[in-house]
Amino acid sequence: MRLATPDDTTSVFDLDMLAFVGDPSQVSPEQATSGLDDGRTFLAEHPDLPGELAGVYSSYDLQVRVPGTPARGTSLVPMNGLTWVAVHPDVRRRGVLSAMIRHHLEQAREHGEAMLALHASEPGIYGRFGYGVASHDVEYTLARGTRFAAPPVVAAEADGTGTRLLRDLDDDDVAARLRGIELDAPTLGTVVCPPRFWRRLVRDVPTLRPGTEPSRAFVATRDGRDVGMAVFSRSRRWEAGAADGTVTVHRLVASDAGALLALGRRLVDMDLMSSVRLPGRGLDDPLLAWAGGPRERRLRVGDALWLRPVDVGRMLEARGYASPLDVRLGVTDPLDEHNCGTWHLRVGEDGTATCERLCAPSDAGRTGVRPPEYATTQPATTQPATAQPATAVDAAEQDGDLEVTADVSLDVGLLGEMFLGLTGARALAEQGRLVEHTAGAVAAMTRAFATGVAPIGGSSF
Ligand SMILES: CC(C)(COP(=O)(O)OP(=O)(O)OC[C@H]1O[C@@H](n2cnc3c(N)ncnc32)[C@H](O)[C@@H]1OP(=O)(O)O)[C@@H](O)C(=O)NCCC(=O)NCCS
Repeated sequence: MRLATPDDTTSVFDLDMLAFVGDPSQVSPEQATSGLDDGRTFLAEHPDLPGELAGVYSSYDLQVRVPGTPARGTSLVPMNGLTWVAVHPDVRRRGVLSAMIRHHLEQAREHGEAMLALHASEPGIYGRFGYGVASHDVEYTLARGTRFAAPPVVAAEADGTGTRLLRDLDDDDVAARLRGIELDAPTLGTVVCPPRFWRRLVRDVPTLRPGTEPSRAFVATRDGRDVGMAVFSRSRRWEAGAADGTVTVHRLVASDAGALLALGRRLVDMDLMSSVRLPGRGLDDPLLAWAGGPRERRLRVGDALWLRPVDVGRMLEARGYASPLDVRLGVTDPLDEHNCGTWHLRVGEDGTATCERLCAPSDAGRTGVRPPEYATTQPATTQPATAQPATAVDAAEQDGDLEVTADVSLDVGLLGEMFLGLTGARALAEQGRLVEHTAGAVAAMTRAFATGVAPIGGSSF
């Protein structure tokens, strides 16, 4: 593995085009890579491919809206987002991706980061590396003229919200303004991308949008302040002489329900357009509920954000919880021994957490790699804590200096699945993936991790 330099831009671009089946005549290497931050792109070389790149990955410095405490709303926490993962076809399935993921994890640990994130090109790849699906990408389609049955108080707030069209987005100030709105939006699961990413998002590359207009935006304002935005593009179509255009919404963020409703009203009221496609939403999206629910909305659900701890304790301390909790988690991690062990998660009355490791592998200083068969599977029953020791507990006992038992045992990827409240401990136990050793532990975790609202899919990166 080595760090990419500006001289590698063309080879990185060529490999990306090859792996993702892109057309290199449509965009220049500089345009395509302009959203990547310096010093975050790494290249893999392989002896069977002399003089060529075997693999590439890059990452973004992102933030995600995580659950708050009962007294405080959602908050933004940092995460390291993997992107641009590509392996040369001549060396695929020979461990290049595995080497890149280990390298990425080690880099993140060295930089003191708490968690990793990604969007997967195919769902079967990343579970083995300890990532879990943290949010679902819910896409639905609204017809032109959809009426939103929002409560009067929200409707009044929307009536008091102005919306204006931003015609030309390809501008530094516009990119900064749109990112500022995203930073303010309180919706659980919102992913905030870095400035360079935003700049690239709004850069107009005509060859990449055949038959479609440049991206436009509606910006919602109230009392002189930006409170929401919808970035979209329209494509024209005529069906038997009738206008049948589609609006595709690339980003929709709002500071409150009134701003969301104001933007929704604008989006379904455009001449020559018959439908509005909204990807990256959630099942609890108020706009979907006000539109009458999922039926006849051409709903599609897939995986969105995948999360993985770099440091179990720091990741679990970064979010708020709905109720007090005192639970010992026996965690197995297929890639990183730093995460393996029994972690004591304690949540106080105020919903804030502390999480420390009670037992650790003896060589905790090493960034070790454990084989995938490391995780143990046990029946999902409620047993006394001592009856079925978790793998983590075994590790502690081998150390001989600590006798610690876990209340539940789970693979590290499940922490990603629970982190934003998408999947409860109860569901994971019923699937047999989280094993309860102390009766009541699953119920307490389910209550404490619950958010009461599904996270939105948010932006892909
Ligand atoms: C997906 C891709 C990155 C995998 O790279 P690779 O070097 O072949 O992966 P590895 O050899 O390290 O494979 C590691 C494991 O993942 C599995 N795997 C790899 N790609 C997979 C896929 N698409 N679906 C399911 N499993 C996959 C391998 O079988 C292997 O399993 P094992 O540990 O049980 O043996 C590569 O094929 C590629 O570039 N694809 C096109 C672009 C893409 O999809 N990139 C990912 C963007 S998120």
